[in-house]
Amino acid sequence: MAHLTNEEINQIQKSADIVNIISSYVDLVKKGKNYFGICPFHDDHTPSMSVSKEKGIYSCFTCHSTGNVFKFIQDYENVSFLEAVKIVAEKSGIELNVDFRETSKYESMYDAYDLAIKYYQNNLKSSLGHEAHKYLNDRGLSDEIIDEFEIGYASKEIDTLTKLFLAKGYDEETLINSGLINRGKSLYDLFRDRVTFPIHNPNGKAVAFSARIYEKRDNEAKYINTKETPIFKKGEILFNFHRARNEAKKLKKIILVEGQMDAIRVYASGVKNVVATMGTALTDNHVNMLKRLNVDIVLCFDADSAGEKATVAAGELLQKYGINPLVVRLSQEKDPDEYIIKHGVEAYQNLIDHPLTYFEFKKSIFSKNKNLTKAEDISKYINSVLEELKKSNDEILIESTINGLSKEFNISKSTLMKKFDSLDVKPITTKQKETVKLKKKRISLENDLCEKMIFYMISDTKYIRLYQQELSYLPISKYEEIAADILAFYIKYNYINMADFITEERDSKYLNDILEILDDNINLELIDNDFVGFIEKIKEIHKKNKIDDEVTDIKKSTDINEQLKMLNDLIKLKKDV
Ligand code: GTP
Ligand code: MN
Repeated sequence: MAHLTNEEINQIQKSADIVNIISSYVDLVKKGKNYFGICPFHDDHTPSMSVSKEKGIYSCFTCHSTGNVFKFIQDYENVSFLEAVKIVAEKSGIELNVDFRETSKYESMYDAYDLAIKYYQNNLKSSLGHEAHKYLNDRGLSDEIIDEFEIGYASKEIDTLTKLFLAKGYDEETLINSGLINRGKSLYDLFRDRVTFPIHNPNGKAVAFSARIYEKRDNEAKYINTKETPIFKKGEILFNFHRARNEAKKLKKIILVEGQMDAIRVYASGVKNVVATMGTALTDNHVNMLKRLNVDIVLCFDADSAGEKATVAAGELLQKYGINPLVVRLSQEKDPDEYIIKHGVEAYQNLIDHPLTYFEFKKSIFSKNKNLTKAEDISKYINSVLEELKKSNDEILIESTINGLSKEFNISKSTLMKKFDSLDVKPITTKQKETVKLKKKRISLENDLCEKMIFYMISDTKYIRLYQQELSYLPISKYEEIAADILAFYIKYNYINMADFITEERDSKYLNDILEILDDNINLELIDNDFVGFIEKIKEIHKKNKIDDEVTDIKKSTDINEQLKMLNDLIKLKKDV
């Protein structure tokens, strides 16, 4: 079967009508040249998203999501690029006679995972998996849940999965890179005699396993997880995210637990907006995934002190991103799994509905092991609370907390205020604020010039030719590389448009920069003279930069002859400006 080329993908893009396709998800109303609708990528109430038939792209002026028809489907349906292409082709009545597996280098790894899941599921249902199956049922997991989570069993045999893969024609390199099999004297299966839980990426593709022992075994880890691979980066994956996402958006809340068994139990009890960190610390990447949902985050980690520490660590990280999480602490029971088994889902739901704020949670930690009738302990406690409070910018929280402490411990507000003011703690600056700063910095003259030039070049090939003839460099390497990509696109296909360039750059590290440039300039009118002006300005900047470099070099040099020579060059350069 044929392999899908970029030309063919671009052909699909052209034949598909972006307005038709997006309007199958969102109502669009025509206004002038463009169509407008409620943006599905943020909590929108007025039509912020515009769709341009002519340009083949959509763009939201509130949340700034931008892209072509494939990007829309990818983000809306949570699917891979190739699946998005398939959906667009289907919706447009275009027949594809292609083998999608060949089109992505990771596609065969995803396939390998799908096959492994089926194989392990079969084992679990066979006599081989009898004990493992019984273990799961004894833990209260119904066959329905076992099926939904695609739980399986890796048998004791050393290489049955390996043999199956090889019989199906998978190549060894792919299998080893996927983390499913290993090479010793010969190839062998990685997971053996364990219950297998598939782990999925946010698009719902299986990319790893977590495999658990099902009876007591000494000297063996309880869980073995897949190593990091090109398709599985621990810091980018939350267990159950692909199932929980929509429910979380609906309920405006997501529950974070530690273990996948906790997530499965909570989910199986009908509370579906739950994800698990799988025992690793929350990462910036996780926070970004969660932040995009734009919902409340409830931390419900294990009851032990490790769980408390993990709650604090997650809370501090989330606060850096401007998120104040909610916190549920279990007291008697080890984890949510055990809690639900003992008290039922209603009781658990009740806990989740009445969480502590992060600040209340911190206060509860400060009061631990203190006797709050003793002056010394009161002093320590108040000090910790005020320090925590000082991290906040929330004036109402500050005032009401100070009022509360004043009443509770019968200490005057002015004493508390004096103490509060004297503390040397800086309010948390959120990473969001940092990006706002970055954004301002970004709109320096040079950046702005480069971005506009790039926008022109993606809009019309005559600007690519002008750039190539007159300049062929930009003062900032990122933009220079994007411009080189634009030129390469033009040379390869002999035309350019936004939608196809986005497709071409889908795996580029600059994709987001490019989308941002399109979004920022979407209403820019293309005027030839303006572009010529940009070129002149860039040339000027280039010369000034050269002069600056020369001056620095002269200052650095200790050789008088060399300095004189450089001075001469400098004078020549200055004459040119
Ligand atoms: P159950 O004992 O099956 O109920 O698991 P749990 O969810 O209660 O696990 P626990 O609280 O012990 O650990 C939380 C998470 O850390 C698990 O879901 C695993 O993802 C991970 N984990 C636990 N033990 C191990 C281990 O021995 N090795 C590895 N790699 N991960 C582990
Ligand atoms: Mn557990």
